[in-house]
Amino acid sequence: MISPGFLFTFEGIDGCGKSTQLALLREYLSSQGVPCESFREPGGNIVSESIRDLLLHSDHPITPTAEVFLFSAARAQLIEQDIKPRLEQGITILMDRFFDSTTAYQGYGHGVMDADTLQKLHPFATGGLLPHRTYIFDLSVVEARSRTQQQEKDRIEQQSEAYFERVAEGYRQIASTASRYMILDASRPIGELHDAIRGDVTSWIHPAQGE
Ligand code: TYD
Repeated sequence: MISPGFLFTFEGIDGCGKSTQLALLREYLSSQGVPCESFREPGGNIVSESIRDLLLHSDHPITPTAEVFLFSAARAQLIEQDIKPRLEQGITILMDRFFDSTTAYQGYGHGVMDADTLQKLHPFATGGLLPHRTYIFDLSVVEARSRTQQQEKDRIEQQSEAYFERVAEGYRQIASTASRYMILDASRPIGELHDAIRGDVTSWIHPAQGE
């Protein structure tokens, strides 16, 4: 699906630094006068944030299959209510996670469905919307965990190291499946990573477009 606005998504295991990079890019694009907004998944509106709360903070077990549908439900609401109308107005959207997270966390991490089955499921939630570019932040599970060890862990972050190894490996596999993926070594300094992303984004959004 082609829209006038650009869609850039940020992916990787917890602690990989994607949210920091998304904030830096948003600041840069705004400083260039590019109309730009950001959203996180799951979340972004009242319904999707309620589903997020259930997924991340439920005291009751949620099965991996139910996770697939809950993440997808939060996504469907976000896309239809918030993302599509903005893209149609030509606003550039930065998303902290999108359907590749479901493929990595529920598909590769939990083995709920194979990647091919999930690829067939995602368009039902997204209406076929695809990112122009997806940045995958590749980091070892040990380093990612050392970055987040002081923070309180939500239901998903409490999964085992072996689970996150499968998720990280899943992202490496996903990165090789289409040209929209750009895999980045997330152990590089913040400024270097930002420069790399900024360089790539400005090959899509020419500065004149934001003026
Ligand atoms: P995130 O907002 O990146 O975590 P944080 O608030 O700690 O920065 O993502 C929320 C969690 O949900 C994260 O552990 C990844 C997980 N997740 C899935 O398992 N599947 C999905 O489809 C999505 C979107 C997120």
